[in-house]
Amino acid sequence: MCSIIGYIGSDKAAPVLVQGLKRMEYRGYDSVGIATFSDNQILIKKGVGKVDQVNSTSKLDTLSGNIGIGHTRWATHGGVTSANAHPHSSSSSKIAIVHNGIIDNFTELKKDLQQKGFLFKSETDSEVIANLLQYEFDQTKNVKQSMLQTIGQLVGNYSFVAVFNDGMIAAARFHEPLIVGIGKEGYFVSSDVLGFVGHTDQVIYPDNREFVIINTRGIQMFDFDGNPVRHQITKISKEFADSYKGEYAHYTIKEISEQPGTILKAGHNTKIELDLVANLIKQAKNIFITGSGTSYNAALVAKHIFSKYAKLKIESLISSEIPYSPNFFDNQSILIALSQSGESADVLESVNIAQNDGTKIISIVNMMTSSLANMSSISIGLNCGPEIGVAATKSFTSQLAVLYQLTDKLCGNCLGLDLNEISQTMSKTLLDHSKIIDIAKQLKNVSDIYILGRGIHYPIACEASLKIKELTYIHAEGLPGGELKHGPLALMDSNVYVIIINPYDSTYANTLTSAHEIKARGAKIIGISDKPSDVYDFWVQIPTIGEAFYSLIEIIPIQLLAYYTALEKNADPDYPRNLAKSVTVK
Ligand code: G6P
Repeated sequence: MCSIIGYIGSDKAAPVLVQGLKRMEYRGYDSVGIATFSDNQILIKKGVGKVDQVNSTSKLDTLSGNIGIGHTRWATHGGVTSANAHPHSSSSSKIAIVHNGIIDNFTELKKDLQQKGFLFKSETDSEVIANLLQYEFDQTKNVKQSMLQTIGQLVGNYSFVAVFNDGMIAAARFHEPLIVGIGKEGYFVSSDVLGFVGHTDQVIYPDNREFVIINTRGIQMFDFDGNPVRHQITKISKEFADSYKGEYAHYTIKEISEQPGTILKAGHNTKIELDLVANLIKQAKNIFITGSGTSYNAALVAKHIFSKYAKLKIESLISSEIPYSPNFFDNQSILIALSQSGESADVLESVNIAQNDGTKIISIVNMMTSSLANMSSISIGLNCGPEIGVAATKSFTSQLAVLYQLTDKLCGNCLGLDLNEISQTMSKTLLDHSKIIDIAKQLKNVSDIYILGRGIHYPIACEASLKIKELTYIHAEGLPGGELKHGPLALMDSNVYVIIINPYDSTYANTLTSAHEIKARGAKIIGISDKPSDVYDFWVQIPTIGEAFYSLIEIIPIQLLAYYTALEKNADPDYPRNLAKSVTVK
């Protein structure tokens, strides 16, 4: 969603904040701003665009002062304008805030504050926090009391950081992420460790319903009732040092290329838990699996392999639909929640619903310090390192790697899963990008792409279509092969490209027939297969592997195709328009 950051220390705050925001830009990137405290006043610079753009025009990093806050925005309330960009200052400009989340009761609060004489400059829900804090501070002259009074009136989910014009910073966490960094040269608060990863590896994870107050002398933490709280300082994993692009042009291609390595780490430090989880799954009356976006597509693969190989009935549910669907959660069931970030609001809400009915939650998650991991009885780590590209790539194959390991355990090793072999096979798909680059040039001006697959290849077709939509803005749709004749065939003509996922397995013959039916209507065919055929206008060869495991291999050339087509269209593959990596609002 949005990213928030705050810094107090001996370094100049502005460059530290800008650098941190740049690394957290994946969370939202339609506008950016910072505020610093210098010479007893709060200075603000902000603008529409990505961090580098706004910084080069507005010179954010030249603001003076050693104390400051910053924000990158993904608009929810109010358009993408400079006025709506954060930070927002109070009417008197004595307090400025940055906010991530949504204040549900902002209309009432705003009206009340306007009646008290407070002025508003934006259309955002967030601005009420600045004026509310100002109102309470004017009454109490005390940062802690003004935080408590303000928090007591806010309805919604939020994390925010405020800078006061006496040089204090305060930050609160309520169902949105907030992390404190303790460095040698200063203190940080941030939505993500990436905000300060180059500065310190010592962090504190405040619990939900807690706030921090920081000045140059130190840090104090309280719960929402005002009681002091203490937390241990944790050392973050060195994997976060990995959050640089290195020699790669974009994070997306870096992350696609990492997959032969990352699948080997999936669930690797939780061997015992995988056995434990397999036992819990076996004993459960009902098994549900849920996720959003890419994670939901991984859930669809799970449904296929659990039922095909482990003979277990499992229901896959779209997280955002759970609140509106009849469900069968009870205290003898299990919900497996998939999420890279562990912060997707839709996933957290569905987990809440299931938990209220007594259902046990097992999460498969990349961010082991996330809200989802905290809410779960057991969390299995993807361990694929930070995924910065907004479109999920390596986290998807890592989710599959965990799901295959579980399936193999559930079926008494019937799969003979060898992740090393899969990793080596995966590497082959990454050796030569030239053919894919040629096809990307063809796709550049296309307006519709269909992706067809049968059986397990249908969820992969859905994931492929999501990658194409997200990265290239071309309309794309995954189709189950057999459904072609029940409608989609009407759409096939010479303007259309169809990607046929057709490894040489039990789905091969029927899918090849579908390809012929499509070709007869003039559409261009891109065949993803280990076997050539005349029906393909373009053949993308994939290596041969055991039938069960093609799903982990065949997605890679389509991720590459989406990436290179984005480049052909001059779209930024790391930061697709209108999207955010971690959607923490509903
Ligand atoms: C957002 C992203 C998607 C992602 C989905 C689920 O919508 O843009 O790429 O698949 O969230 O994210 P999660 O972190 O829960 O896996």
